[in-house]
Amino acid sequence: MNEVKSLMIKSGYSDKAINYYLQKINVGELKDPSIKVIYTGPCGDTMEIFLAISSNVIEDAKFQAIGCAGAFVSGSALIEMIKGKTLEQSEKIQEINVIDYLGGIPEAKIHCACLAVRTLRMAIEKFKGSE
Ligand code: FES
Repeated sequence: MNEVKSLMIKSGYSDKAINYYLQKINVGELKDPSIKVIYTGPCGDTMEIFLAISSNVIEDAKFQAIGCAGAFVSGSALIEMIKGKTLEQSEKIQEINVIDYLGGIPEAKIHCACLAVRTLRMAIEKFKGSE
């Protein structure tokens, strides 16, 4: 088993979270997004979210982060959750929904889901303000 994977299992990440991390699910940038936002959370980690929006629906999204494994798995999961959803459905997603979707992350990393959720909300607000 690879070393990162065994460390993540020991730390309390679910298999799903570990796969997202190792496969870098939804990590990257969108060329020509409808909106992009970069946000640095209180922990000092930074996330950037790119959204492609059409008729109020998030058709595609990506993120990048300078941050911990918790930030990456939360970003991967949140982007999976919002693809094909309306802006209203997406902005209702809470940290706990992201953690449930992942099926478990270490307790000390729960706040990392906030970084993803806050960045997404800021992107949606900025998009609505720009319409
Ligand atoms: Fe900052 Fe995880 S410690 S997002």
